[in-house]
Amino acid sequence: MYPTHKQTEALKRYIDQGGNFSIYGNDGIYQELENLICDKYKVKHCLLTNTGTSALSSGYFGLNIQPGDEVIVPVYTFIATVTPLLRLGAIPVFADADPISGQISLDSIKNLITKKTKAVAITHMWGYPCDTRNIKKFCEENNLKLLEDASHAHFTRTEDKYLGAIGDVGCFSVGARKIVSGGEGGFLITNDDEIYMRAILLGHFVKRAEVEIQSSSDLIKQKYKGMESGFGENYRMHPYAAVMIKELIENEIEDIIDIRYETISLMNRELGKLDKFIAPKIAKGAMFGYKPQLFLNDDEIDNLIARFKENGMKIKRLDTIPLYGDKVFEKGKFLDEYPGADAYMKGRISIPNFTTENREDSMKIANDYINLFKKLLK
Ligand SMILES: Cc1ncc(COP(=O)(O)O)c(C=O)c1O
Repeated sequence: MYPTHKQTEALKRYIDQGGNFSIYGNDGIYQELENLICDKYKVKHCLLTNTGTSALSSGYFGLNIQPGDEVIVPVYTFIATVTPLLRLGAIPVFADADPISGQISLDSIKNLITKKTKAVAITHMWGYPCDTRNIKKFCEENNLKLLEDASHAHFTRTEDKYLGAIGDVGCFSVGARKIVSGGEGGFLITNDDEIYMRAILLGHFVKRAEVEIQSSSDLIKQKYKGMESGFGENYRMHPYAAVMIKELIENEIEDIIDIRYETISLMNRELGKLDKFIAPKIAKGAMFGYKPQLFLNDDEIDNLIARFKENGMKIKRLDTIPLYGDKVFEKGKFLDEYPGADAYMKGRISIPNFTTENREDSMKIANDYINLFKKLLK
């Protein structure tokens, strides 16, 4: 799907006009894209990063998570929502998922709080919103910070705000096959001056850190005086990715979101009529994943996958599975069992994102899926 025609044209124009190949400060295309994201998300700060993973690393560092702090995280998420905590010496504490939506469950979070809990991280997995308002309220009542991983849910509204702009810090991937993508990339948003400054100090060095410290509030200036060298881990986004992301957000994303919602709503309406097909929860936004559940056993699912392949179409089991049992997290704290996440996974399949900026093509593929499911699941 990507780069779209318009992204390619925007990149060509940028190169032809001698646009910068590498930027150390916060000027040029970085400033344009960060301002655009701040406007859209109605937030004070945006920091572009080279990946979603570095946006998450910067987010946790921004929250000042210390060794030994506990952070409650979803058991069902992509590993990078959690792995940055390991480097900080923090302890991820894995909460169960809602069996229907797959999102982190507030009840499970409530039972995991200890004196060491510093923050809660949530992922709007596959693009469906978590119970964000209530989780936020719970965090406020318990003096906990809230980090949102909105990598699957760009420009997805709940009530009056976009997902990612509700917690203390929102982290996004804009890489690979995400619906907002520049090939590789990420960004972080926050209204908190200190989270922003700490994120800059992690991923940038003197060229940006100095300017940002100088232009910040007196409190931050005083606190971070002399830190201008930063850690300089270099999380800078490639300017070409920034050009493509800006083009997509400015000129294409609203149509793409409409098309995405139209196609998956149609699939839910039509396929939801089949006895063996449970339509997934969907939301209007850059919803990354369409993951229905089937009343079929493992052999029947294998057979269905093979039949789709014979017909030149792809369905698969979910590549992303719950994180319990993953050795990387041996220092994490786990519950004895995860009935919610297990129920969510049962019979769950993935239909790869086929939505393009072309409505006709996208609707045709949606109808091809509908017709084949109807034929094979009757
Ligand atoms: C939910 C989620 N968070 C974070 C990431 C990490 O993003 P990136 O691959 O851009 O580092 C991904 C990547 O797929 C993801 O799916």
